[in-house]
Amino acid sequence: MTSDNEQPELTLRTDGPEETRSAGRVLGWLLQPGDVVLLQGDLGAGKTTFTQGIARGAGTDEVVNSPTFILLNEYHARLTVYHADLYRLDDPDEVAALDLPGVSLDGALVVEWPERGAGLLPDDHLLVRLTYRSPEQRELAFVPRGHRSRELAARLSSALAAAAGGEG
Ligand SMILES: Nc1ncnc2c1ncn2[C@@H]1O[C@H](COP(=O)(O)OP(=O)(O)O)[C@@H](O)[C@H]1O
Ligand SMILES: [Mg+2]
Repeated sequence: MTSDNEQPELTLRTDGPEETRSAGRVLGWLLQPGDVVLLQGDLGAGKTTFTQGIARGAGTDEVVNSPTFILLNEYHARLTVYHADLYRLDDPDEVAALDLPGVSLDGALVVEWPERGAGLLPDDHLLVRLTYRSPEQRELAFVPRGHRSRELAARLSSALAAAAGGEG
């Protein structure tokens, strides 16, 4: 799960949480059952904010926040979006018990702190690295790992370009 030097398919800067949600919303439009999105970044990097956009894009009106006590939330939308936050799980057995590969079979799976689940997550996934740049600015780097996630990342690039064009 290391490989921080992998070349991203796409990077973007966001100015403020609404822009991060917008990017997530575009990804949410595209997700299909079986897609896996891993969100890597420090506390406050914007992982949950991005997930709020994903869930909205997938079509849910439910409120999305960090799964604090419940380790796995689910949002019922055009498809089911499963949202796991592994931050508090330092025991790999607890992560294994969630059976995230099994979960991803019938919905899209979004995981915060995937480092905690190394080896216990689906191999084919879209990694999103979120980096703090300034109080309002974040950088999002999208690194597809596997055939399926490469196709998703390519569709995301096109859709983000179209969405940006539509604004102007
Ligand atoms: N460009 C930005 N993208 C995302 N969040 C931002 C941005 N600028 C400021 N923020 C703020 O940073 C915080 C990100 O929190 P959160 O999404 O919960 O992070 P994480 O889940 O990575 O710990 C929120 O308070 C949000 O309003
Ligand atoms: Mg979070």
